[in-house]
Amino acid sequence: MTSASLREEIKNKVRETADIIQVISDVVELKKAGTRFTGLCPFHAEKTPSFSVNPQGQFFHCFGCGESGDVFSFVMKYNRLSFPEALKELARRYQIDLPEPRLSDADRKRIEERELLYKVNKEAAAIYQQYLAESPDAANARQYLEKRGVSGEAVKAFRIGYAPDTSSAGWNFVTSRLQVMKLPVAAIEKAGLAVQKDRGGYYDRFRDRIQFPIMNVSGQVVAFGGRILGEGQPKYMNSPESAVFDKSRQLFGLYQHREAIRQRRQALIVEGNFDLVLLAVHGIEYVVAPLGTALTKQHIRTLRGYCDEVVLLFDGDSAGLKAAMRSVPYFLAEQVDARVAVLPEGHDPDSYVREKGPGGIEDLVNQASPLAEFVFDQLARQYGMTLDGKNRIVKELQQIISAGDDTVQRSLMVSHFSGMLGITPAQFEAGMTKGSAAKQQKVNPPGENLKKFPRKQRQLIDFLILYPEYFPLLLEAGVEKIVPGQGVKNLFSCLNVLAQEGNLTPEGLLVALPEESAERKYVAELLILGDQGSMGNDEQQVQNMCDEMLHWLHTETRQQDGAALQKQINEAQQSGDADLLMKLLARKQEIGENN
Ligand code: UTP
Ligand code: MN
Repeated sequence: MTSASLREEIKNKVRETADIIQVISDVVELKKAGTRFTGLCPFHAEKTPSFSVNPQGQFFHCFGCGESGDVFSFVMKYNRLSFPEALKELARRYQIDLPEPRLSDADRKRIEERELLYKVNKEAAAIYQQYLAESPDAANARQYLEKRGVSGEAVKAFRIGYAPDTSSAGWNFVTSRLQVMKLPVAAIEKAGLAVQKDRGGYYDRFRDRIQFPIMNVSGQVVAFGGRILGEGQPKYMNSPESAVFDKSRQLFGLYQHREAIRQRRQALIVEGNFDLVLLAVHGIEYVVAPLGTALTKQHIRTLRGYCDEVVLLFDGDSAGLKAAMRSVPYFLAEQVDARVAVLPEGHDPDSYVREKGPGGIEDLVNQASPLAEFVFDQLARQYGMTLDGKNRIVKELQQIISAGDDTVQRSLMVSHFSGMLGITPAQFEAGMTKGSAAKQQKVNPPGENLKKFPRKQRQLIDFLILYPEYFPLLLEAGVEKIVPGQGVKNLFSCLNVLAQEGNLTPEGLLVALPEESAERKYVAELLILGDQGSMGNDEQQVQNMCDEMLHWLHTETRQQDGAALQKQINEAQQSGDADLLMKLLARKQEIGENN
């Protein structure tokens, strides 16, 4: 048999065995409708089901977005896999033996790299877990968990472990153990478990930390969140992003809780790993937590496959509220209903459930207010409903709304909020014209804007201030495009001058900035307060951070370019310019292929 016909045969075997209804049901709630099944399309945002699966023909089709295909194309598209990967995934699921597939060298390399990372993470999780359970030197860690109310059952369910302290296990406890298992140190490093020393050799990234393995929805360990035992900085250390770990997609707890979420059609979002675990201990299992980042569009898109409504449970502090504000456009764009529940001052979900029990949390969830109203109330409370207050509210809302990229949703929000403010949509939008950008600068002095950036952007700015020697590198990677605004411009123009003078130091930057400027104040504060543990202090850590930033910049740039292109496509579609449209679609195709 030729290899081509062999491949065909395997493909057919998988096709015959795999059940498209079963496969799609994993991620989309399907309801029977005559001979078909229907559900909400996982490939575009919608509220009424136009996604349809035909069990006889074993294909799917979406009447909304036009996406269609067989079980292979579904798995490829949904999980972003190549064909051989999808084949392998389905073969694994239906226990069909695959002879060594013929892959392109690049595909093979990619798959092997990922598998190695999964393996390294899995073994590391087992090592940490065993150490926590058995080592006399983990007594502290066991006590700590017990004191916080984490049951043995929860330790098992979340595969919680402990990365020992250097005084009991040295600097390369996990690294050396993994190496003994013949796992290549390069992979251990890529997984983020080992960090290379300047003069050669490696040491463990995670030391003296409670280790929470982060699992993808297939249950493979892709990363760790490590909480320091007791006090210390940084409180949490997360694995860096890797070929298997994309922070903006992964949700802690989704693997363990996906069934509970699916059954309830509702997901509760908390901020902390311990919050999630303690809620689970008290029987509240429809919970997930992002990994120290604000909710992203991808998070919400992922959740959409499991539930119809998301409830954000936040501490009453302003960070949580800001996070809620920023997520509004994503929820709107993905058409997922969201509500916000706020904990009383001084509580987090962990302390609250321990004090009031699961009933207390349920009450909060039931009383949660719809996200848009919640945001509006917050702003109304902050600024008041005077004329001046309304102006400020409009400005804040405009920022929130303009962060979304769906024009239909945007106009819906505009009419919704203008109604609440008692003004016309046109009045509301009037503030959004270019002319108002300058006015807005006056309301918020430029330096204030530095503080206002989302966490990731802010991290980038702080990084550049603390480690300006990386400025040329990040500049080349397009940092200017990704972090806009006058405040940042001022900062960058100073950095540019310093770069030419060969004087890229934090202190140099401080004195180069105009006296009394908000940027100078910001830099001074940062240098005095330090970076509150979020930034690294050894060279390797700094280099790793820089790599993470570069990676993020790259993704972000790609997304921006993609969004800009999509906008042009929509415009071309509306204006009926077929030539342009074809050209743009070709570009989109090209970009898609290169990613
Ligand atoms: P919290 O500080 O609320 O975490 O940060 P927690 O789990 O409740 O910790 P405890 O109760 O003080 O032990 C919320 C989440 O933000 C991320 C982590 O994922 C954490 O669970 N985080 C926090 C970081 O990534 N880095 C940090 O330094 C702090
Ligand atoms: Mn906490």
